[in-house]
Amino acid sequence: MSSAARSTASARSRTRSSSPLDTTLPHQKKDILMPVLGALSVTLEVPDVGPGITFYTDAGLEAAVDGQIARFRCAGQDRDSVILIGGAGKKRLHHIALRADGLDKIAADAPAAGGTVVDAPEGFTDGGLWVRDPHGMLIHLVERPADPELAEGPGFEINRPGRVIRKRRSAVLPRTAYPAAKPLRLGHILVFSPDVPASVKFVTEGLGMGLADRAQDIIAFTCARKDSDHHVVAFAKSPDIGFHHASFQVNDPDEVGRGGRALLAKAGKGDWGFGRHTIGSNFFHYIQDPWGSWFEYYSDMDHIDDYALWTPTNYAMEDSLASWGPPVPNDFVHNYELKYM
Ligand SMILES: [Fe+2]
Repeated sequence: MSSAARSTASARSRTRSSSPLDTTLPHQKKDILMPVLGALSVTLEVPDVGPGITFYTDAGLEAAVDGQIARFRCAGQDRDSVILIGGAGKKRLHHIALRADGLDKIAADAPAAGGTVVDAPEGFTDGGLWVRDPHGMLIHLVERPADPELAEGPGFEINRPGRVIRKRRSAVLPRTAYPAAKPLRLGHILVFSPDVPASVKFVTEGLGMGLADRAQDIIAFTCARKDSDHHVVAFAKSPDIGFHHASFQVNDPDEVGRGGRALLAKAGKGDWGFGRHTIGSNFFHYIQDPWGSWFEYYSDMDHIDDYALWTPTNYAMEDSLASWGPPVPNDFVHNYELKYM
C-alpha cells in the first residue's frame, strides 16, 4: 500500500471511529428481509417404506402411498410433511423443505454464506429454489401461502396456587374418552451438522433466519424472523449431516403424554419423554422411528413474533436437552446415517 493509500485508509478509519456508535446488533437490523418463513417437510430415503407407513400412521399422520413413495400429512392440511422414498440401502436424509419468500435474494446470498445453488434433483420439481448448505445438506425453498391458522384448541387449565379456575369438574376424562393423538402441523426439523456455527451462519446469512438460542457450539436453534416458533430448523453436532427428528404440534401437554405413550406401545422401540425442554420451553415426547431417528410430539413452544426484539442465549450444555424428563437414551443424539455405521 502506498503512503497516499495508507493515509486515505487511515482517514477513513478515523472517520468511522469518530461516528456515533451503531449499537444495533447485526441480527436486530430492521432492513434484513425474511426469506425463510417456516418448515414444510422432510424427505428421507429408506430401505422399505412399509415400516414407515405403519409408524407414521400410528403417529396420527395421513398416508398416501404410491409404490415405494409414501407421503404423510397432518389431517386437514393440503401439503405433505414427511416423504419417504424406499429402495435405499439405509435411511438417509434426502432434503428438507422450507417455506420462503424472496428466493432471488436467497440465490444471491447463499454462496457468500457457504452454500451452493443447485439444480433440482432427478425426479423432483424444479420449482422453487434448491440449495446445498456448506456441508452438502440439500434444502428446497418453496414460495407458497401460509397454512391456514389453526383453530383455537381447548384451553389447558391449571388450578394453581392463589387461582382456582376449575371447580366441580374433572380435568381428566376416562382414558377411552380421548381420540388418538392428532398432529396439527410440522413445527420444526432437527438435523445433524459437522460444524454447527457454519450451519447457523448459512441459514442466518444465506436464508435470512435468526439464531434463537444455542448451547455452546454443540446445538443451535434457528427461527424465522417473524411470527415463528422458537425453532424451525435446529442443528446438533455430529461428524456428518443427517436427520435427527421432525416435531409435530398437538393440542396440549396431555396429548403429548398420551400420544407418546400410545405410539411407543405400537412402535415398541425407544422413547424419550414425557419432559420439558429448557430451550424453546416445549413439552415433548420423542418416539424412535424404524431407522433410529425420532418423531416428536410437542406442545407449548416459545414464540418469537419479531426477531428484532429477541436476544439469543448461549446455554450451558446441562440445559441443552431438557429442564426435566427421564434419562436421555444412549443413542438419542446418535447419527445413524454416518457412513461407517
Ligand atoms: Fe424438537
